[in-house]
Amino acid sequence: MDLKEKIRIIEDFPKKGISFKDITTVLKDGEAFKDVIDKIVEIVKDKEIDLVVGPEARGFVLGAPVAYALGVGFVPVRKPGKLPADTLKYEYSLEYGNDALEIHKDAIEPGQRVLIVDDLLATGGTISAVAKLVEELGGVVASMGFVVELTGLNGREKLEGYDVFSLVQYEF
Ligand code: PRP
Ligand code: MG
Repeated sequence: MDLKEKIRIIEDFPKKGISFKDITTVLKDGEAFKDVIDKIVEIVKDKEIDLVVGPEARGFVLGAPVAYALGVGFVPVRKPGKLPADTLKYEYSLEYGNDALEIHKDAIEPGQRVLIVDDLLATGGTISAVAKLVEELGGVVASMGFVVELTGLNGREKLEGYDVFSLVQYEF
């Protein structure tokens, strides 16, 4: 399956100059969605993953089925004020704006090997924040997987030293 044929591109969303890679057209296509999850699982199957962590919102949609397929747990990283128990917070900048993310303090056991999953690697701001939260709790970031990577935004440079993979690449 050619994944790029299934990803819809919307120009000038959410603001002028951004070429938005819309994966809802992949998600609504059962065969394409399954293929994406299967591909991620195939890449990480020998990495001894204990836990999948995904950031709100699109990281949930991809991370949860990957966790299920691996037979491991899923931990949500959420925007501030959404998680009910004690949280750890990290502030970061993203492709269009600033934000903060939180994780439950008891979500990860020290030494657990974590796969971080999200739909898109752009500047890498979001995923760096997720990695910081995981590491602050003592987790080991074993791998980071994305459906789409925007190579022209140099997110990978920010993630130097991590095992990073993406299924499809665009420059911007
Ligand atoms: C988007 C996307 C990634 C992030 C990538 O999420 O889903 O999580 O931006 O950008 P970065 O590499 O520059 O950080 P967004 O914050 O728009 O929220 P959503 O997933 O809730 O739609
Ligand atoms: Mg997101």
